Order: sequence, then C-alpha cells, then structure tokens
Amino acid sequence: MIITIDGPAGAGKSTVARQLAQRLGFRFLDTGAMYRAVARAAIERKVKLDDQQAVTNLVDDLTIESGEGWIRVNGEDVTNQIRSPEVTSAIRPVADNRAVRTYLSEQQRLVAAAGNIVTEGRDQGSFVFPDADLKIFLNATPHERARRRKEELEQRGNQVSLNDILEQQNQRDKQDASRPIGRLVKADDAIEIISDGLEIEEVINRIVALIPK
Ligand code: DC
Repeated sequence: MIITIDGPAGAGKSTVARQLAQRLGFRFLDTGAMYRAVARAAIERKVKLDDQQAVTNLVDDLTIESGEGWIRVNGEDVTNQIRSPEVTSAIRPVADNRAVRTYLSEQQRLVAAAGNIVTEGRDQGSFVFPDADLKIFLNATPHERARRRKEELEQRGNQVSLNDILEQQNQRDKQDASRPIGRLVKADDAIEIISDGLEIEEVINRIVALIPK
C-alpha cells in the first residue's frame, strides 16, 4: 500500500507522515531530503547551480540512499548537513532540473516497490505515484504555517520575525507552484486536510479513517 502526503512547506507533512508510518508499521520516505541531498552535493562540488547540464552531470554521479531518519550520498551521511539555510536556498535549480526529478522519482518508485510506505513531498500523489492507494494534500493557512515555523525556530534559540518568515515562505510557495515539472499541485483524487487548529494526533486519526479497507 502506498499513502502519499503532499503539501506546501510548513504544513506539517514530515511529522504527520513519520508518525502515521509508525502507527501503521509502514516505512516512511521524506522526498524533500533527497532534493536537499542533491543540492548539498552541488554546493560541496562547487557545481554552478544555474548550469543545467552541470547539475545533470552531477546527479549521474550520485548514489542516494535513505532510511528512517538518515540519508547518505555516495556513502557519506548528510542527514544534518541538508537542513542548512545554504542548502535550502540552493534547492530551486536542483528541483527544477528534469534529470534530477527523473532520477529521484525512479528512486522513490524503487523504494516503494519494496512494500508498504508513507511518502511525503510535493509531487508524490500527482506525479510519482498516480495510482497510490490514498492521497492526502496537507495544507494550512500561510499565517499558521509561518507561526509554527517561528515557534520551531524559537525552540532552537533563533529569533526571526513573523514577517520575515512569511516573506521567505511566500517565495518558496511561488517556487513550488511554478516549477516547470513536478510542481506542487493537488492531485484530482487527493483529499485535502487543512491542519489549522488540529493536533497532529487528530490529523493522523483523520488519515487513518480514510485508508481503504
Ligand atoms: O520538504 P522540504 O522543504 O524538505 O523540501 C525541500 C525542497 O525540495 C522543496 O523546496 C521543494 C523540493 N521538493 C520537490 O521539488 N519535490 C518533492 N517531492 C519534495 C521536495
């Protein structure tokens, strides 16, 4: 069984997908981490991000493996490195690159072929797994997503204004929605859940209730 969870940054996809997978005894796939891993490799190897061919050549040379809470590129564990702001700001040309998307989509299908999975990202229900058993589009209002992000940053000791977060978030939303391929779009047969005012547990309960028997 394949359950896809797509949605914008900050809607709570990772937490929900991870805990849902745990509850069901399924594996969990964080596809954003894969795009981040390619972006991080591009930075490391000083690949010019706006040179499409160079990014294509780079991905041909990468082997990405991931599991519960870890990701490796050519054998090197990059789990922590991929979360840096530098990587986040390098993602756009990587996620827009056709060869990168083709390679990562194939990898994602291979991982899913091994058994039950909850997979989260932007294009899982719309493009990578059009025949998924259950497709969720997890959303929240921009203000709520930014508020959560601020709380998360504060817990890590970082103070950032809500306006700054909202501005960055708008930027990412625009990038995600305007990508030439693999853009963030709700699949026709996806069920939208708006998580404003809902505890994680409630979101998970709703999803579990939607799983086909
Ligand atoms: O979920 P995240 O923020 O870790 O994802 C990082 C970036 O990767 C995000 O800005 C968009 C891109 N991405 C994508 O294009 N397709 C996916 N399936 C997952 C992520």
